[in-house]
Amino acid sequence: MRRLGLHRCSLPVERDDKMPQATKAITVPALRARKGKTPIVCLTAYTTPMAKWLDVHVDLLLVGDSVGMVLYGMESTLGVTVDMMIAHTQAVMRGARRACVITDLPFGSYQESPEAAYRTAARILKETGAAGVKLEGGEAMAETVSFLTQRGIPVMGHIGMMPQSVRAYGGFGARGKTEIEAGQILADGEAIAAAGAFAVVVEGTLETVAADATKALPVPTIGIGASAACDGQILVTEDLLGLFTGFVPSFVKRYAALGEEVEKAAAQYASDVKKRRFPEAAHCFGPKKPKP
Ligand code: KIV
Repeated sequence: MRRLGLHRCSLPVERDDKMPQATKAITVPALRARKGKTPIVCLTAYTTPMAKWLDVHVDLLLVGDSVGMVLYGMESTLGVTVDMMIAHTQAVMRGARRACVITDLPFGSYQESPEAAYRTAARILKETGAAGVKLEGGEAMAETVSFLTQRGIPVMGHIGMMPQSVRAYGGFGARGKTEIEAGQILADGEAIAAAGAFAVVVEGTLETVAADATKALPVPTIGIGASAACDGQILVTEDLLGLFTGFVPSFVKRYAALGEEVEKAAAQYASDVKKRRFPEAAHCFGPKKPKP
C-alpha cells in the first residue's frame, strides 16, 4: 500500500510500506559521533528504487554529482546542474527511511562566495528535505563551510582528488604522491574540519596520506580510493554492481556483475518476442470469470 508519510523534514513523501521498515533515521550528529568507532557505510544513490534497495544496509546515501557521468553519460561532473541534483535528491528521499541523505553541491553553484553557496544549499535542503550538503575543496572553501555550518546547514567536505577540479589536474589521477600534495591534503582536511564540516570524503589519495588524515582530523573521514583506516567508506553503487559502462577506477571492488545480467535478460526477451514465446497465457488478459 502506498501512502503519504511525513519524512524527517515534514515534506510529504510517498512511501511504499512493502519495503523493510526502519523507524529511526540516522542523523548528522550521530554520524559525526562515529569518529574512530564502527566504520560508516556509505553508497551513492540517484533514484527511488536504488535508495529503497540500499537503505537498510547503509548509514549514509550520497546523491553524488557523479550522477552526470553514471546516468547521463557525461565525461565529467562539470555539466551537472542544481535542478538535476534537486530532482535526483527528491527521488532518493522518496526511497530512504533510515539512511542519512546528503547531496552534492554541483560545480559552479557554490565556489563564487559563501552567500552563493548558502543560497544553493538552502534551496536544495528546502526542496528535497536532505540532511546536508557535500562540497569539494579544502583551505580555499573553509570560509564557505564555516558560513554554512554557522547558519544550520550540515556540510560534508571532500578533499584529495576532487572531480570538479579535473580540468586543473588534467585528469582523474590519485593525489598526495608528492610531499607538497600530501601536506596540502592534510591542511585542507584540517581547515574544513575546523570550519565545522561533520565529515570529510577523502578521494583518490595515497593510502598513507589518507591514514594520516584520519589520525589528524577530529571528524570522520570517508574513503574512496583512499585507506581502510578511514572512518568509513563510500563507492559509486553502479561501480560496485557492475552497471557503469564507462571507465571504472582500480580502487573499485565489484560485488556483482549486473550489467551482464541485464544484457542476458534483454537477449532472452528479444529471442522470446521474435519466436512468439512471449507473452504466454499468464501474461494476457482473459474474459472475466463468472462468480460461483
Ligand atoms: O559524486 C560522487 O558520487 C562522489 C563520491 C564518489 C564521493 O563525490
